Amino acid sequence: MTDNFFDMAKVKKAWFCTSCGNESPKWMGKCPACGEWNTMVEEIVSKEADGGVTSRNRSFLQTQNTKPLPLSSIDSGRENRIMLGNSELDRVLGGGIVEGSLILIGGEPGIGKSTLSLQIPLTCNHLKTLYVSGEESARQIKLRGERLGGNHDNCLVLSETLLENILAQTKETAPQLLIVDSIQTIYSQNIESSAGSVSQVRECAASLLRLAKESNIPVIIIGHITKDGSIAGPKVLEHIVDVVLQFEGDTRHSFRILRSIKNRFGSTAELAVYEMTGSGLKEVLNPSEMFIPMHGEDLSGIAVAAMLDGTRPFLIEIQALVSTAAYGTPQRSATGFDVRRMNMLLAVLEKRAGFKLSQKDVFLNMAGGLKVSDPACDLAVVASILSSNFDVSLSQRTAFAAEVGLSGEIRPVGQIEKRITEAAKLGFSRIFISSFNKVPAPVLQNSGIEVVAVANIPQLVKAVF
Ligand code: TYD
Ligand code: MG
Repeated sequence: MTDNFFDMAKVKKAWFCTSCGNESPKWMGKCPACGEWNTMVEEIVSKEADGGVTSRNRSFLQTQNTKPLPLSSIDSGRENRIMLGNSELDRVLGGGIVEGSLILIGGEPGIGKSTLSLQIPLTCNHLKTLYVSGEESARQIKLRGERLGGNHDNCLVLSETLLENILAQTKETAPQLLIVDSIQTIYSQNIESSAGSVSQVRECAASLLRLAKESNIPVIIIGHITKDGSIAGPKVLEHIVDVVLQFEGDTRHSFRILRSIKNRFGSTAELAVYEMTGSGLKEVLNPSEMFIPMHGEDLSGIAVAAMLDGTRPFLIEIQALVSTAAYGTPQRSATGFDVRRMNMLLAVLEKRAGFKLSQKDVFLNMAGGLKVSDPACDLAVVASILSSNFDVSLSQRTAFAAEVGLSGEIRPVGQIEKRITEAAKLGFSRIFISSFNKVPAPVLQNSGIEVVAVANIPQLVKAVF
């Protein structure tokens, strides 16, 4: 046998599912793990037959001397958290960043991931941070830093794509926080496939996790998002990390939302709002004020929903346009709202309340490029559609918070007190809710807002128009 034979033997190839990261020794049309079709790609996994980081049976969390302990004897002492000085981000993380945790921030290109991740070390000058960029040169980072108006010695910058170098530099500089922008641009020498491939992304993330757990340095990694909205690279990436934050928003608008979609150290119901300005991202501390109308007059087709995203109440303007269909098939389109849900609400209006909408074009839009999923917006959607249909404006000082059921009943929603109080705080004079919602008497008496309870669509129409 020649040396060459051994070289050959060292090359390990495998098929990976680009959707879920499942590894398979041979090609398959359908991934057995996630059931997706045509997602398997072949990749060279490792040059070394043994000791390669990809070896599946070696857990990266394993240390030599781990022994099982009785649960009762384990010290539950609270995890150490570092405040980043960016109050919105700290809140979304559940009260600062936990030492030794791995955080993934995902988002579409141009949404502001690099801006946010560079703003962290710039605002947080008490923290020694290593900012690694695989996308920009040190000069470009400096220029961005100047635009963001920050500069100090505790912020170390490294333009590097080789994982092994990043790990070595981290060891040498011993930062208190490591930021890697982005996971898709870095690669490990041990793996043959190109940067951004399933196995590279997975192994680089696993190495960074090991670094975080062993050195206790929190690590933030930036991840790109594919067209269908999932974080590029395997789903496994989301399983590996402790926290997944998603940065979203419409790049044509200036608002950005940072949403927690997984958090091992806090709630996933949190969300932060930022505004992209000429000098970086600014925290929006009172989001309601941004999303409610500022028109001088009352316009038809507009209603305000008191929605809840995360634990925070929000008031948002919903706009509808109903017009007679010019062509045979009416058009239905919704921006920021699920179009199937809108169609369901239209069917309810047609069947349960007798409104003839089947020959009408209906367009729906959420103000500020926001995406909403709170069912409490239903009532405002219905009200805006009816307002546009009748061409009668609603009072700008009226808000809505209720779900609409299939039989046309108006259903209660959670945390109604918060919604009422928020609407009152913003100067609304009336709020429509479901008559099945129990509102504590003190809220009713002290909030200074008229609470109108309705049970079905006809009651709503009677009370509003
Ligand atoms: P960037 O952080 O590079 O996005 P990502 O890393 O997610 O791809 O930011 C993208 C956009 O933000 C870019 O189009 C320019 C804009 N921007 C501002 O409006 N103000 C600023 O201060 C900065 C730095 C960027
Ligand atoms: Mg970037």
